[in-house]
Amino acid sequence: MTDITPLRDFLPCSTPDAWIGWALAHPDILLIDHAHCEKKAASTAINLMFRYVDRPELLDTLSRLAREELLHFEQVLAMMRERGVVYDHLSPARYAQGLRLHVRTSEPGRLVDILIVGALIEARSCERFAALAPHVDAELGRYYRYLLKSESRHFQDYLDLAERYANGPIAERVAFFKEKERALIEEPDREFRFHSGVPKIS
Ligand SMILES: [Fe+2]
Ligand SMILES: [Fe+2]
Repeated sequence: MTDITPLRDFLPCSTPDAWIGWALAHPDILLIDHAHCEKKAASTAINLMFRYVDRPELLDTLSRLAREELLHFEQVLAMMRERGVVYDHLSPARYAQGLRLHVRTSEPGRLVDILIVGALIEARSCERFAALAPHVDAELGRYYRYLLKSESRHFQDYLDLAERYANGPIAERVAFFKEKERALIEEPDREFRFHSGVPKIS
């Protein structure tokens, strides 16, 4: 199994047990939102490739990443079809928006922040697949474990690009976004999504 210690060390907290229970109670939404997340991951990478055409390492890395995300998208769709789960629109989790809200507006801060947010999203996705794997059925568990390898590489890719394009150390900025991420993961949330917080008890 892929060693995901580096990204576990990077993340500010583990997925709360309450989220795992919430996920197991919503198997269809889990798959549908997973498909949306893969598609969104590809689209985020492609958008960056349009905006930063003068950054060769970014173009090479994110083009490959986008292809992998689209492959994952096709795999999740196939699994949904097999299981009779209908793909549909779904409102997004507050998570990605909650992080992007804090992205700086001038360059290179903007790019560096988007890349740090990308690293966090990839790391969290990977950590969630690992957390879910022992609790879901064998086929899904195998698939989640298979995903760990590429998603942990995506985390590292984003982080390496952030370091490359920053004009100095990024530790302070990383720490800032980690605290925002922790709140989004640990605080009560209204709806279950792949990146949601914990269920709100009303
Ligand atoms: Fe993916
Ligand atoms: Fe990914």
